Amino acid sequence: MSSTVPAAPESVFTYGAPQLKFGSGASDEIGYDLSRLGVRRVLVVTDPGVAATGLPQRVADQMERFGIEARVYDGVHVEPTDVSLTRAIEDARSSGPWDAFVAVGGGSSIDTAKAIDLLTTNPGELMDYVNVPVGKGQAPSEPLKPLVAVPTTTGTGSESTTICVMDVISQRVKTGISHARLRPTLAVIDPDLTLTQPPGVTAASGMDILCHALESYTARWYTTYDRKTPEQRVPYCGSNPISDMWSEKALTLLAGSFRRAVRHGDDVRARADMAMAATFAGMGFGNAGVHVPHANAYPIAGQVKGFHPKDYPGDEPMVPHGMSVALTAPEAFRFTFEASPERHVRAAKLLAPNAGEPENAAEFLPTVLTDLMRDIDMPNGIAAVGFDDGDVPDLVAGTMKQQRLLATCPREVTEDDVAGIFRRSMSLW
Ligand SMILES: NC(=O)c1ccc[n+]([C@@H]2O[C@H](COP(=O)([O-])OP(=O)(O)OC[C@H]3O[C@@H](n4cnc5c(N)ncnc54)[C@H](O)[C@@H]3O)[C@@H](O)[C@H]2O)c1
Ligand SMILES: [Zn+2]
Repeated sequence: MSSTVPAAPESVFTYGAPQLKFGSGASDEIGYDLSRLGVRRVLVVTDPGVAATGLPQRVADQMERFGIEARVYDGVHVEPTDVSLTRAIEDARSSGPWDAFVAVGGGSSIDTAKAIDLLTTNPGELMDYVNVPVGKGQAPSEPLKPLVAVPTTTGTGSESTTICVMDVISQRVKTGISHARLRPTLAVIDPDLTLTQPPGVTAASGMDILCHALESYTARWYTTYDRKTPEQRVPYCGSNPISDMWSEKALTLLAGSFRRAVRHGDDVRARADMAMAATFAGMGFGNAGVHVPHANAYPIAGQVKGFHPKDYPGDEPMVPHGMSVALTAPEAFRFTFEASPERHVRAAKLLAPNAGEPENAAEFLPTVLTDLMRDIDMPNGIAAVGFDDGDVPDLVAGTMKQQRLLATCPREVTEDDVAGIFRRSMSLW
């Protein structure tokens, strides 16, 4: 519980990140980078929408010059499921062995490549590695092959994190696999690849960046945990001086460029700022952790009814990750305000440097957030994506299963607290 002072407070925080290559043209160097690793056969992993832009094939084509054979797998499911991941793993197992993997796409493609890498280098099945209680939570026994992650959205930060997120269809839950070995070997962030992102994807994935930055910035401070032994250390250690730095800088970049990137997708400068913000926020949350908005996002996405967002493929019901995170964020930050008022106010100022501070400081961040969400055409609350008060008990039950995330909340969170956050998030403005 965060309100009690631990008998032996933690005094150590950790920071992990992949090697990184950032900038216009960076994706033209992947063939060279892989040739340095002695790689001969590479599987390029992507989804059909990104494949249609020609970017994954362009990445595959440059391998030839270095004597590397590359094949494109374009069967990634947007927002992966246990079924789509298993299909991708079977495909890779039967066409392997592979020396390395290159994910070209958003979080869906990068997470699918993480699962393929894990299950083509380690024995067993997907569910053996999925977090407890949904899966067996086993740790990989063998090292993974190099994974180069090349994001084409500006959002998840999956290129620098140790997690792979999925829907487990039979149990109607969203969960994941989390282990340090899943972190990509190299993240190649080339803002030029993000220019074709449709506005709806830019808006939803941008809200993911924003919530990563805000949640890790307001996360429980690392010294308020009990002291861990080395073998107890997990990738998420609570907010700390290094993650704070990344989160603050991400907020400043978002303040300058988020609205512009949604409205003027061809604005190269805005796209580059968004790509950098996603990377910075990924470095922050990938070490500090996220809390209530992300915990609530799991049941919102997992229990979706009829909603299908603009600019996403097909017509199956879905609430994209960034949207599902954003919809309860204003209320969640009203709830966490009292744990660290100065952090909430500072975050709002970074995000809206020209806005006047309201009399009630607790309203500052929620107001800045809802103003932004309205401007970029986010749905007005969870009612707008199909939920009503009768759904709250099921949503709460889904959130309470995310104890790993709730443990990062700067205040203790009860079922009643979560129910209140959902009820007040039915409509936001
Ligand atoms: N592993 C992590 O650390 C982490 C963190 C947050 C979210 N996630 C997961 O990532 C997934 C969401 O990823 P996302 O928001 O990056 O989007 P995405 O990968 O789901 O892609 C969204 C849509 O945008 C299209 N698209 C992507 N880039 C494009 C481009 N440049 N041009 C044209 N179309 C493009 C795709 O074809 C797809 O239809 C969710 O499954 C979420 O749970 C993972
Ligand atoms: Zn996220």
